[in-house]
Amino acid sequence: MPGRREFHEEVASTQDRAIELARAGAEEGTYVVARRQRSGRGRLDHSWASPDGGLYLSVVLRTPVERAPWVPLALGTELTRALSREYPVPLGVKWPNDLVVVPPAGSARKLGGVLVDRIATSGSAWAEVAGVGLNVTTDIAQLPEGVRSRAASLAEFVRPPPSLDEVERRVVEAAAAAATTLRSPDGVATIRDRCRAVLFGVGRRATIDGATTGTIAGLGDEGELLLDQGPHRLRIRAGDVRVEGVA
Ligand code: BTN
Repeated sequence: MPGRREFHEEVASTQDRAIELARAGAEEGTYVVARRQRSGRGRLDHSWASPDGGLYLSVVLRTPVERAPWVPLALGTELTRALSREYPVPLGVKWPNDLVVVPPAGSARKLGGVLVDRIATSGSAWAEVAGVGLNVTTDIAQLPEGVRSRAASLAEFVRPPPSLDEVERRVVEAAAAAATTLRSPDGVATIRDRCRAVLFGVGRRATIDGATTGTIAGLGDEGELLLDQGPHRLRIRAGDVRVEGVA
């Protein structure tokens, strides 16, 4: 890491292009970056609006199989750490892999998101393609109406705003840090601790998939979200999480 860079002014989806490269045997660290996407993909089959001003990047990782489930949290956590170190913006990870700006007062808003696809490649090998979408100088008015009030961009907090090339470098470094940490002997414990330190919403009410409501208690040992319902503790392993106090 970092590996070969493939740049597009415009592409359907950096994620789909990086999946093609991974299937063709691309090594870890190979990445695809674009200025715009025509059909950007988000989690849970949502689309990801991708106008000018955002960073759209997908990187190929080859994580040991038993640690692969940690890739989304590891990348979200390392990105949050890296961006908070470099820029004066209060960030957290909204489980499982949203980057949110958490102002001291007012609602949290989404700065970016992570999408990880695990795919079979040649032979019996596997790869993860980790996609990152970040609003850098994005004009929020260019986003679909339903997401505008819930979105934030780095340029609101960083003056002058960083260039897309600079943010790209930091995202690639964060992906490398996530992969290296996950491979180290204590990698899972390290990522778990780091994620707990930046996890957004502990103590707040949350609703999972529009149905299950409780209070976020933290991150479980296996990376699951702990949700308290009175005396009962639920372990949430997947789903759409709506947290109270997020615009
Ligand atoms: C989410 O929050 O739902 C995850 C969004 C991930 C979007 C990125 S943009 C780069 C890459 N290419 C895609 O089509 N999707 C991911």
